[in-house]
Amino acid sequence: MSQQAVTVKRADYGIDAPEVLRRFILIGTAGIVVGLVLLYPLRNVLPPGLASGFGNACLWMGLTFFVTVGVMICGSKFGKARIADKLIGSLALRGDEKVLDVGCGHGLMLITAAKHLRSGRAVGIDIWQKEDQAGNSMEATLANVSVEGVADRVELKDGDARQLPFDDNSFDLVVSSWALHNIYDKEERAKALREITRVLKPGGRAALIDIQHTDQYAQIFRQSGMENVKRSGPNFIFVIPSHSLTATKSVQ
Ligand SMILES: C[S@@+](CC[C@H](N)C(=O)[O-])C[C@H]1O[C@@H](n2cnc3c(N)ncnc32)[C@H](O)[C@@H]1O
Repeated sequence: MSQQAVTVKRADYGIDAPEVLRRFILIGTAGIVVGLVLLYPLRNVLPPGLASGFGNACLWMGLTFFVTVGVMICGSKFGKARIADKLIGSLALRGDEKVLDVGCGHGLMLITAAKHLRSGRAVGIDIWQKEDQAGNSMEATLANVSVEGVADRVELKDGDARQLPFDDNSFDLVVSSWALHNIYDKEERAKALREITRVLKPGGRAALIDIQHTDQYAQIFRQSGMENVKRSGPNFIFVIPSHSLTATKSVQ
C-alpha cells in the first residue's frame, strides 16, 4: 500500500489586539536599547548612580513589556480556548438551541458552542476589524468552521452588535467573547447589550466574557429585563482581568 503524506490543518483563532502588541514590542525594544546604552557606553560619562539607576529602570521596563506581550499571545493561543470551553460547558446545552455569537472573530465561542449542538444552529456576526484580531475575516472563520467539522451547523453574517440583523426573541443563547470592549463609547456599548437582550427568546441566556466594562454590562442587563445576572471572578490571561457574565431573559 502506498503511503501518502496527510496534512492535518488546524483551526487558527487569531491573535487579539495586534496593534497593542506591536506598540508594546516597540516600547519594550526602546527600553532595552536605552537601558543597555546607559549601563554600558554611557556608564563612565554620566554622574555616578545616574546611568545605573536610569539604565536598570529602562531595562526592566523593556523586559516587562516583552513579558506582557508573551502573556497576551499565550492568552490568545491557549487561555481563551480554556475559558470558552469552561463557560460553554457550564451552560449544559441540550443540543437543539439557536445560538448567536456577537463579534465572533475567528469563531472561538461560535465553534465551541456548535460542537455541543445536534439539531441546533449557531450564527456568528462580526464587522471583522483587523486591529481587534490579526487576520480577521469571514473567510478565515469559514476555514476554521470547516476544519472543526461544524459547517453543517454554522452560519456567518456581516453585522454590528449595536444593530443586530435579527428579529426579537430569535435565540436561545447569545455569547460574546472579548468583543464588546472594542465599542469605545459607553452608550454605544449599552445599545449592543440591549440588542442582545432583544434578540434573546424569553428564558434565553446570555454568556459574555470581556476584559473591561463587565460591571456596566451587568447593570444594563438588569435594567433591560435580564435576571439571574452573575459575574465571575477575574482571570488574568491578558494581564488585565477578564470576567465572564451570565444572565437569563425574563419570561414575563
Ligand atoms: C478581540 S476580537 C475577539 C473575537 C472572538 N470573539 C474571540 O474571542 O476570539 C474582537 C472582535 O469583535 C469584533 N467587533 C468589534 N466591534 C464590533 C461591533 N460593533 N459589532 C460586531 N463585532 C465587533 C471585531 O471585529 C473582532 O472580531
